[in-house]
Amino acid sequence: MPESSEPIPPKGVDLTRPSVARVYDYYLGGTANWAIDREFGERVLDRFPLVKNIAVANRLFLNRVVRHLAKLGVRQFLDIGAGVPTAGNTHQVADEVAPDTRVVYVDNEPVAVAHGELLLDKEGDPTRHAVIHADLRDPDGLWRDAVATGVLDPEEPVALLIIAVLHVFQPGPDGTDISEQSLARYRELLAPGSYLAISHATDEGTPSELTQRLADLKRMYDTSSSNKVIWRPRAEIDSLFGDFELVEPGTVWSPQWHPEQTGPNATPITFDTPSHAVVWAGVGKKTR
Ligand SMILES: C[S@@+](CC[C@H](N)C(=O)[O-])C[C@H]1O[C@@H](n2cnc3c(N)ncnc32)[C@H](O)[C@@H]1O
Repeated sequence: MPESSEPIPPKGVDLTRPSVARVYDYYLGGTANWAIDREFGERVLDRFPLVKNIAVANRLFLNRVVRHLAKLGVRQFLDIGAGVPTAGNTHQVADEVAPDTRVVYVDNEPVAVAHGELLLDKEGDPTRHAVIHADLRDPDGLWRDAVATGVLDPEEPVALLIIAVLHVFQPGPDGTDISEQSLARYRELLAPGSYLAISHATDEGTPSELTQRLADLKRMYDTSSSNKVIWRPRAEIDSLFGDFELVEPGTVWSPQWHPEQTGPNATPITFDTPSHAVVWAGVGKKTR
């Protein structure tokens, strides 16, 4: 239950279990989390302190993707599983490069959506920014709702961002993970010239001293949080790009993707080796 000094949660928030979105916000130093999320986050960080830096490095990857693609001329972003707004949100980074960029944020966690609305009320432009409550597993419904905001033109290229979302287990009606089918549909919906950016935790190719910690992390999420997690092998993550052409340098550890695009106010995270970042990341382009 929320502590008495805690903010009143938005409608529909489940405070009986820690949520992936709110715990991630806690790792990043945010305040859109409740005691149940913080206690879980602390247990994770006790066992696996590197998780904080892994989360920040992932966030910096997101920022670099937006900056890089905006510089390549992309003017529309659909950020699915955008999370609770924190430093360097997609519309802020994109606006630094091109102030005519359009962004729709999507999440299925009410706290993330409510905080997104608050931020956009304060500093957004309703003709260029929107946030919607929708589910990644319903590509056609999500796409329809995103287009209905009037912010995105579906006939023009869109950069679809699915950053640190697909290692959250995505159960379909039969209980199996349907990320692959969902992604296949998004790839069809996107106009030619669109981009797909993905980052995803893996336990393949990671340092041996992290193997047990990654297994423990998975067990903690699987047994206690609102969502299970899935560490996919790298080839499986790569296959989520389908026939999209990978942008240089291909899929790499998160800190290795265009480090030169790190913003002037961001401090890159230094790991013992890039594989300590645990997150495999890349961007593909729809060329046909
Ligand atoms: C680890 S956070 C990543 C946030 C942000 N993309 C980033 O990288 O900084 C994962 C987010 O995905 C959202 N999410 C997970 N499954 C989802 C689904 N099926 N539909 C929409 N959002 C989802 C969670 O609510 C959470 O906000």
